[in-house]
Amino acid sequence: MCGIIGYVGKKEALPILLQGLRRLEYRGYDSAGVAIANKGKICRVKSVGRIDKLTEKTKGKNLAGSLGIAHTRWATHGGVTEANAHPHTSCGDKITLVHNGIIENYQEIKEKLGAKHKFVSDTDSEVVAHLIESCYDGDLRAAVEKALADVRGTYGIAVMSNDEPDKIIIARLGSPIVIGMGQDEYFVASDPTPLLPHTKEMVFLDDGELAEITDKGVKTYSLEKQKAVKKEVETIDWDEAKAQKQGHPHFMLKEISEQPHVLQDAIRGRYDVEEGTAHLGGLNLTEEQMRKVNRVVFIACGTASYAAMIGKYAFERLAGISTEVDVSSEFRYRDPVVDKNTLVFAVSQSGETLDTLAALREAKRRGAQVRGIVNSIGSTIARETDGGTYIHAGPELAVASTKAYTNMTAIMLLYALQFGRLRGVSLGTGKKLIKALLEIPAKIESVLEQSDEIKKLAKKYSKYEAFLYLGRGVNFPVALEGSHKLKEISYIHSEAYPAGEMKHGVNALLSEDFPVFAIATKNQLYEKMLSNIEEVKARKSKIIILANEGDDKVANLANDVIYIPETMELLEPLLNTIPLQIFAYHMAVLLGRDVDRPRNLAKSVTVE
Ligand code: AGP
Repeated sequence: MCGIIGYVGKKEALPILLQGLRRLEYRGYDSAGVAIANKGKICRVKSVGRIDKLTEKTKGKNLAGSLGIAHTRWATHGGVTEANAHPHTSCGDKITLVHNGIIENYQEIKEKLGAKHKFVSDTDSEVVAHLIESCYDGDLRAAVEKALADVRGTYGIAVMSNDEPDKIIIARLGSPIVIGMGQDEYFVASDPTPLLPHTKEMVFLDDGELAEITDKGVKTYSLEKQKAVKKEVETIDWDEAKAQKQGHPHFMLKEISEQPHVLQDAIRGRYDVEEGTAHLGGLNLTEEQMRKVNRVVFIACGTASYAAMIGKYAFERLAGISTEVDVSSEFRYRDPVVDKNTLVFAVSQSGETLDTLAALREAKRRGAQVRGIVNSIGSTIARETDGGTYIHAGPELAVASTKAYTNMTAIMLLYALQFGRLRGVSLGTGKKLIKALLEIPAKIESVLEQSDEIKKLAKKYSKYEAFLYLGRGVNFPVALEGSHKLKEISYIHSEAYPAGEMKHGVNALLSEDFPVFAIATKNQLYEKMLSNIEEVKARKSKIIILANEGDDKVANLANDVIYIPETMELLEPLLNTIPLQIFAYHMAVLLGRDVDRPRNLAKSVTVE
């Protein structure tokens, strides 16, 4: 969703801001803009569409200067127009701002400001610029503080003023904002990714905090306490190269191909072969507290929730703990029953998904132990949970999540093993699981080598308008994830079902025009799965089967087979999902879709 980038220093701001905007593109946007302070005047350029168009428009404009802010907008209040793009200004251009989030009482504020304020956009954000102007009395920081006291909603803002062209004021409530610490130069952004080319030293504002940034330094304040607060500088160890396509046509393909490598990053140092267990220190629970956990609840959205379903199978099987997966947007509005012996995991790639954040707050309020399984370092979910684990997938920039799903799954398996070893999983089973897990990266490599074959398959099936994905047991969430990938990037309708459920309704859909992707690897439900596939075949649907190498039974049932290596049942999702990701990717490319930025979707969903 919307992205912010800002710069204060000695260099020309424009190239830095434009590069930053490009690095924010992955979040999803429909318009963009930039504002730079030059000799007491702020010059602004905005454009609908891609950053290339904005870049073109900046040519020949008076945008010299070494302090500026810029924004990518994903429309919420008001259509996709240049007027609605950020930065917004107040009357007479005294105040310029960019805003992420939603101002709930913007109509009320607008009415209060009265007719002397002329609004030129339909956005809630513009109202804040006018409000700050109405509070301005020669001190920008004081004006922002005063204005924000009247605002209800969420914001991450960066504000400049014609009258104080040496500073940027930023503030945060519910929408992240990060400061990149350089040498006599400072950066501002809505997430760490665009800052990586410049610095790895970052300060994350917490909710209710404000910062005043000049080229002399950064001063941070608490809005509530109205006094200075000291913030720690954190080092983000993400590799800048990982945020580039590195020769791949799409981020998604690059991220799919990184999985063997990033899976190793996720598990490294977190298992103990001799003890047949895992050590995820961030859990912050003693063994005694771990033994008292009698329920696990995963809260997550989309792909993260499918990974969590695999976590459920693992926790129930290995640890014998009753486990649920709740979609965050449902959990937060129910009356979830949790207590101090319930361990809630908030699972999120971005660490900023608003529903998951709200759900974890609700779980905390009700007394549960809340931990995070998160990719983005320093993100809000990571900060608001009382411990947890980073999944170390590195920057994931394609909207469609791939490597983060794999790493989330691996971390949940390790957690389940860690609990399981305290509750009856034998040393032998623990060792076997770790040994099998260590073999997964090489096995993923071998699946990746089949990309061209899977592409041929995608070509053969790209004319169909709807697909059905079937799986059972641990492969049901795999089916859900395969279907999710296909629909979000290729826009082809698809459904996923537990194969045993077909006869209760979905069989009615089966026909020659409704291909079925069936996951039938050799686990305890293999025979049952084959019977379900027989039923599909009898109804003339085309069938693609995902089977284990050497399985010659499936060939008679399938129109096409993808063979993959065998592994332990609980680890199957780590392998079985990969061909489904590749299939969805090739389908989307063949259909000419915008693979990395599918329509109507954003990478980081920071609104409800
Ligand atoms: C994944 O391909 C999707 N884009 C989406 O379902 C995503 O998994 C979901 O929005 C949750 O995001 P999060 O992991 O950042 O919380």
